[in-house]
Amino acid sequence: MKKVILGVTGGIAAYKAAELARIFIRGGSDVQVVMTRAAAEFVAPLTFQTLTNRPVCIEMYAERSEAKIRHIDLVEDADLLVIAPATANTIAKMAVGLADNLLTTLYLAATCPVVVVPSMNVNMFSHSAVRENLEKLRVHGCHVLDPDSGELACGVYGRGRMPEPSDIYLFCRAALQRKDYKGVKALVTAGPTREPFDPVRYLSNPSTGLMGYALARALSERGAEVTLVSGPTHLNVPAGVKLISITTADEMYKSVTELYPETDLVVKTAAVSDFRPLKSSGEKIKKNEAALTLELAPNPDILLELGQKKKNQVLVGFAAETGNAVEKARGKLSDKNLDLIVVNDLNEQGAGFAVKTNRVSVIDREGTVEQLPLMDKDELAHQILDRIVKKLQV
Ligand code: CTP
Repeated sequence: MKKVILGVTGGIAAYKAAELARIFIRGGSDVQVVMTRAAAEFVAPLTFQTLTNRPVCIEMYAERSEAKIRHIDLVEDADLLVIAPATANTIAKMAVGLADNLLTTLYLAATCPVVVVPSMNVNMFSHSAVRENLEKLRVHGCHVLDPDSGELACGVYGRGRMPEPSDIYLFCRAALQRKDYKGVKALVTAGPTREPFDPVRYLSNPSTGLMGYALARALSERGAEVTLVSGPTHLNVPAGVKLISITTADEMYKSVTELYPETDLVVKTAAVSDFRPLKSSGEKIKKNEAALTLELAPNPDILLELGQKKKNQVLVGFAAETGNAVEKARGKLSDKNLDLIVVNDLNEQGAGFAVKTNRVSVIDREGTVEQLPLMDKDELAHQILDRIVKKLQV
């Protein structure tokens, strides 16, 4: 998303577009804001000009310093046109191809993907005229992000509120993704498992689920049908992903084995606890009654079993090691009959649990080892998917 045109129309949510502009800029985009006159009544163009470091365009026939620049030049090399908020009025004009201001003219001239984010009063949003117009925009190829429900600026509750800028940003990213996982049923496991030995105590590990959630989001963005079987985390479920929450390894085992026959791809990022306490007390253990030894029983190795039962599924495992990572991961790849294993060395800086970045090596059955540089887990998820997709096609 190098060059983004952000269209802002005259709704109260226009103030949230300022935050959206900032998020795009933080993500490395150049943002050109185009406002309608009504939008400029809600938020001063100077706000956007300051944030984007570019003059805001409003008027169709404004005097421009560079005579060469015509209105359609603005969208000629744009990667994305996003209109947020989009009022019922602008949506109606777009639906019939009316070009009576700069923004609607740019819309007609744009050849890049277009994202439309309607925001209005609940009754306006449910009016059949607005519904029909939005349907037309979908037919014309626009990506429409439905509004959220909640308290609206007019004081009533209902659907019509513009989604949070961070969600709009993720939606835009998804709209631009190639859909190379369309038709793929993917199962991702994420997070830690917890193995209780009384109602308030358990064995676990520091996994936060970041890598697994990033992979589930990336798969969904690329068109897969994604089920996420997740241990306890504090993360939001990515849009379009079906969540099955579990706590113990045994619960994960049951969910995963049930879904497995209908699954094309399994990505097992979960940090499954290898052991569970042999006994779990129904009552809280008092410190004066506690034995000092906790007896453990092994948990099922879920991935090992999936490997043994494998038919056409592609299986991807994860391993976190401390030293000799590639060698150890190779062993797991062959023992568990995997197609690919992603390994990181916990001793390396920026890799591992509870950090936003990771540095991994990807190893396949043919023995190829590819070391990827340190990167953000969201970006890494896409890099990993670029490699998995080749295995799905074989
Ligand atoms: N895994 C699993 N079930 C388990 C343990 C691990 O499905 N009971 C999966 C993990 O989700 C991961 C892969 O197996 O994708 C490797 O996990 P890891 O803990 O690194 O390996 P283990 O086989 O448990 O070996 P060890 O703990 O001895 O390193």
